[in-house]
Amino acid sequence: MAEQPAVNRQVLGSNPSQGAALYFHAGPIRNYSGQGSSILIMSRRIQSVTQSWQSQSLATRVIRAWLGVTWIYAGWDKATDSGFLTRGSATFIGTQLSAYSVNSPIGFLFNKAIEHATLVGAFVMVAEFAIGIATLLWVSPTLAAFGGFAMSIGLWLASSWHVNPYFLASDSAYAVLWLAYFLTLYSNRSSAKINLDRRGVLRISAVAATAVIAAGIGKLFSGNTSKENSSKSKSTNSSSTSNNIIKLADIKEGATHTFQAANGAPAVLFRTKLGVYAYSAICTHEGCTVNYSARSGYLECPCHGAVFDPADGAKVLSGPAPTPLDSVKVAINGEWVTLV
Ligand code: FES
Repeated sequence: MAEQPAVNRQVLGSNPSQGAALYFHAGPIRNYSGQGSSILIMSRRIQSVTQSWQSQSLATRVIRAWLGVTWIYAGWDKATDSGFLTRGSATFIGTQLSAYSVNSPIGFLFNKAIEHATLVGAFVMVAEFAIGIATLLWVSPTLAAFGGFAMSIGLWLASSWHVNPYFLASDSAYAVLWLAYFLTLYSNRSSAKINLDRRGVLRISAVAATAVIAAGIGKLFSGNTSKENSSKSKSTNSSSTSNNIIKLADIKEGATHTFQAANGAPAVLFRTKLGVYAYSAICTHEGCTVNYSARSGYLECPCHGAVFDPADGAKVLSGPAPTPLDSVKVAINGEWVTLV
């Protein structure tokens, strides 16, 4: 299967042993000794992208299109989520990282990342845009494929490691898909070196800039809910500035109260005739924030439907969550319910 179109590396001015690695220029040989105009360069680039699609097999094109579009969509999904970079929101990246730090085999890494959660979230969002755009537009495609593979492996270790059976986790499937695509590209290259000549750097920079702009546009579409969530979160958690969670008189038997645990993650307090107890509100599947449903009496995750029973150790009743919710130690101290 020939994955490469006819390549004119003379036009690129690159060494064949290097230029074939991560991008190529395709098209008829022309005389550009005058350096060409920007329109001419753009025209050549469009021609190159078009030819990259035409030269690939149908199977490779399907995989490339699916991965490229999906990664852009993943970036867009985060960019338009007003809570993704907002502390205290249900979908805040820091909340997800705190869940990963508990459940992942490389949890210690995620534990360190929590301190820089906003930065990590912004990087992931822009990287997803960049990988998707580079894949579709044939800019350093081998590097982009490897980036997609590495990211999928990271997500697999982070959030899907305990999913059983494993085939229910999409991250593992994406890791394999990216690996297959990467190997397809790599096997059609004479070398894997990154071409860092002027045009190569310019193309990569253009993709990075486009990814940042796309993330910014996504933020414009996310509206003002971020601020609303933030202020709501502050008022909800105002009682937890110390170990005090809530005055006992303010929570009746049978009632619940949402508060912030010592690690900053949301938690839910229950009061019964027998006393008080609490659970982390971080879903053990992928770290979304669960909500208590007074109607069902269960803690329910809005992301993938996991249901936990607070009356039975927060054990999983249904959905993809691998383990019960973590318990949070609380006690009654005088007129207050406090963290222990
Ligand atoms: S995050 Fe997937 S079920 Fe909760």
